[in-house]
Amino acid sequence: MSAETLNYDLGVRAVARCDLMGAPPYSEHDDQLVRRYLTAAHAAALGTLREWMEAAGMSVRCDGAANLIGRYEAAAPNAPALMIGSHIDTVRNGGRYDGALGVMLGIDCVEALAGRRLPFALEVIAFGDEEGSRFPTSMTCSRAVAGDPVSGAGALRDADGVSLAEALAAFEPAQGEAPAMRRPGELLGFLEAHIEQGPVLEAEGLPIGVVTAIAAQKRLLARITGVAGHAGTTPMHLRHDPGPAAAEAILAVERICGAEAGLVGTVGRIAALPGSVNVIPGAVEFSLDVRAPTSAVRDAAVGRIAAELQAIVARRDLALTLEVTQDLAESPCDPTLTAMLVAAMGDVGVAPRRLPSGAGHDAMVMADLCPSAMLFIRCKGGVSHNPAEAVDPKDAAVAARAMLAFIERLAVERGGAKR
Ligand code: GLV
Ligand code: MN
Ligand code: MN
Repeated sequence: MSAETLNYDLGVRAVARCDLMGAPPYSEHDDQLVRRYLTAAHAAALGTLREWMEAAGMSVRCDGAANLIGRYEAAAPNAPALMIGSHIDTVRNGGRYDGALGVMLGIDCVEALAGRRLPFALEVIAFGDEEGSRFPTSMTCSRAVAGDPVSGAGALRDADGVSLAEALAAFEPAQGEAPAMRRPGELLGFLEAHIEQGPVLEAEGLPIGVVTAIAAQKRLLARITGVAGHAGTTPMHLRHDPGPAAAEAILAVERICGAEAGLVGTVGRIAALPGSVNVIPGAVEFSLDVRAPTSAVRDAAVGRIAAELQAIVARRDLALTLEVTQDLAESPCDPTLTAMLVAAMGDVGVAPRRLPSGAGHDAMVMADLCPSAMLFIRCKGGVSHNPAEAVDPKDAAVAARAMLAFIERLAVERGGAKR
């Protein structure tokens, strides 16, 4: 399937477009989907998204943080906009719909208007970095738009030692482009459609649901330092090996986070350094991701984990550093826009289902800039961050219709359209 031969069908085409972007040149690898921030795969995705946005009637620009924004003007010039979108980057070996589907559905909504003008503009945005799969931070792009840029982001380096500033300077679509930050009055609101990434909607037989709030999340980088040595000559009782300490630490994370409903903790990346089979590691580094419905619950858990890790390294005569790499408070969705989204679900004949999000989303950052709301779309088995991620195109079609019903309701409220 090429970009030219996709058939139009609201929502269904959005899924097909995500599928198209599941392989090179939109992926860094042939055998798995990886589309990290400021890579050639990211640039290729922006090139094709630009064509699709322009074909839908939008004027398109890339901002200085490498967000692609398509604008569909209102009936009057310079009107504030409803921004719709999500992220276009992926985790390593990720699925095709996490983030991308929300961008494609935004484009479909604009195209469905077929040139009809609203009392507000529509802007469809493809954020460049939500996942944090390249640099040790995440939500870099929505934070730039919301006026809360990650401090010192430019100096952060990827696994190859390339700094974010260097990568951005080399990223052709963003060169010479305007800063990303938006002023509050420019946006009426932000609407993000996203796969649920959990099993609740599927279990209840519902194609879509409305998000009430997004969980608080904190990410840390832990480093346990010992003494590197020869794997054959150093007796077990004379070692200062951080490896077993890291194993104990991971078990402690599981135990502490497993003790409370709604609290989750994950060690997703671990590296023994220098990383040779015949070398006792001198250090072990691992990531820690802790989430809970509130920052208070999350921070109490992080405190318990830190105390436990300190006890482990003290007992083993090792050293520990813990660095916070991301701290996002819980984010309730805007009640007014959420109520409008619930009503829009009714308009398309779906029973209103409200549910919280355990996953992080750009909407939690955008909520600092403007009222934000989220629509969830059922995904197969609740599986996400996994190549097996799957969406029924019929569900995406329901989501697109609900988004359009939401836009119509907002237009009525803004005094410019009849229902
Ligand atoms: C984003 O995918 C997250 O980590 O929740
Ligand atoms: Mn994700
Ligand atoms: Mn996502």
